[in-house]
Amino acid sequence: HRVFYFSRHGESEFNVLGRIGGDADLSPRGKKYSENLAKQLGGPGSSPNAPKPRLIWTSELQRTIHTVQNIPGPRTALKDLNEINAGICEGLTYEEIQERFPQEFAWRDADKLKYRYPHGESYLDLLQRVDGVVQALLLNTEVLVVSHQAVLRCILAYFKGSKPEEIPYVNVPLHTLLIVKSHGYDFKIETVPLKV
Ligand code: F6P
Repeated sequence: HRVFYFSRHGESEFNVLGRIGGDADLSPRGKKYSENLAKQLGGPGSSPNAPKPRLIWTSELQRTIHTVQNIPGPRTALKDLNEINAGICEGLTYEEIQERFPQEFAWRDADKLKYRYPHGESYLDLLQRVDGVVQALLLNTEVLVVSHQAVLRCILAYFKGSKPEEIPYVNVPLHTLLIVKSHGYDFKIETVPLKV
């Protein structure tokens, strides 16, 4: 059996403000989550039989790197785990996007899978971008992946067998550890919400 652990970063200062993209650090609640996550994965305060990830993969962004800071194990920051690049909409709220770029907002709403932000990416771009990460995961086990909403939707789609059109809407909540275990050629996903 293989086992993989997935989580979004803890709440960031941009999440609090409803702003997308950027490289904001964790909010106070996000920092609490990093401590609670570490308790599940062999960090300070863990039970002796808590699993310890063999490898820890994050994006290059502060919020994922700081989310794993209390978890023991070798870590690697991968560019391919960075959040979707929202191009001209980086740093805006969805309201501001609708106000400043109403046509872009409508286009994204009409076809969220294929829509590419000007100077940015689409979900289809992301699916390509994470393919290498998924292949590398499948050569390993006991890997912890801490990344971002859109990227995790694309990676989890592989394990869930989601239809492409569903991928941009998959629910990947904050402050939740997802444990994916292989059963033959099938995968089971366990959801562990962690209080902050
Ligand atoms: O709001 C957090 C965030 O990770 C943004 O950085 C990103 O643009 C967004 O979620 C992706 O979600 P959606 O594709 O639903 O806009």
